[in-house]
Amino acid sequence: MGQLTGGNPLVDGHGRRISDLRVSVTDRCNFRCQYCMPAEGLPWLEREEILSFEEIERLVRLFVSLGVEDVRLTGGEPLARRDLPRLVAMLAGIPGLADLSLTTNGYLLEREAAALVAAGIRRVNVSVDSLQRDRFFQMTRRDALPQVLRGLEAIGSHPSVRPIKVNAVAIRGFSEAEALRFAEFARSTAYQVRFIEFMPLDADAAWTPDQVLKGEELRALIDAAFPLEEVPREPSATARVFRFRDGGGEIGFINPISEPFCADCNRIRLTADGKLRTCLFSLHETDLRGPLRAGAGDRELEETIRAAVWRKELKHRVNEPGFRRPARTMSAIGG
Ligand code: 5AD
Ligand code: SF4
Repeated sequence: MGQLTGGNPLVDGHGRRISDLRVSVTDRCNFRCQYCMPAEGLPWLEREEILSFEEIERLVRLFVSLGVEDVRLTGGEPLARRDLPRLVAMLAGIPGLADLSLTTNGYLLEREAAALVAAGIRRVNVSVDSLQRDRFFQMTRRDALPQVLRGLEAIGSHPSVRPIKVNAVAIRGFSEAEALRFAEFARSTAYQVRFIEFMPLDADAAWTPDQVLKGEELRALIDAAFPLEEVPREPSATARVFRFRDGGGEIGFINPISEPFCADCNRIRLTADGKLRTCLFSLHETDLRGPLRAGAGDRELEETIRAAVWRKELKHRVNEPGFRRPARTMSAIGG
């Protein structure tokens, strides 16, 4: 196979260079967001099914040697995994890794912020779907907004961690009432606010196209109160970012449903149980844990990875007839 030559960057069969790896460190979570998990939780993976920190480090080293530059730790809730800062320190030391970031629900961030910073975390994204306590509770099924805001403040007090992004899932009938509050929040703090269109990755399979509140609709709502101007998009950036014409702050819209950005997708994902996923919506995944635990060498793992990446999906088919949802939910994939 021609593409399996060492030293070449990781590319897929559509000519996209893969430089971004999302690593889910646990499928567990202390929240039960409506758009992700059922109220009763999900059957969790067994401990021995989950990659150890040493196994994650070995795979991340290999990915970095193949050209991955950015690694983001996700979950489930990554801070629900014991000792996460130890993994951060192990990964931060890998030569060639340009960026190491974390996506968290923020609940444990107040406690862990200093340790994460000491371990070498560079950037943090915190999910906040509402700035009103009762509506936050309604969406996440946890009365935790004050705790999450304290977590944001704790991480924000470390200037080495920038930017800090606040991600809100945009759902029709819910998020319209959040738009102006988030705009004011973006104007009055240093956090970069991003709305993310609701995707069919919810455990309840309740997603329907009409529940997707489009980024453009939210942008128009905000623009009417606070005029916006677009900031030029960086290559492979998923968000359309706008600044307020009359002052500081910016707000962005990640529109995977209404404006898919698959054509310049540079991402792949590793699940907590060691499966490589080349798309959020992949129906097929590639097991890396099996060969890893069977004693495979780097060369063999590299060939498995290159072959899987080569077959990365051209695009998601959410908007097409016959779309099939992946069996895993967002919590078992990693954002
Ligand atoms: N649609 C869009 N975003 C989602 N997230 C979780 N489930 C969904 C979904 N169904 C987001 C979380 C978090 C990130 C990991 O993914 O809010 O910001
Ligand atoms: Fe937990 Fe994140 Fe899923 Fe919410 S979206 S239940 S915080 S994994």
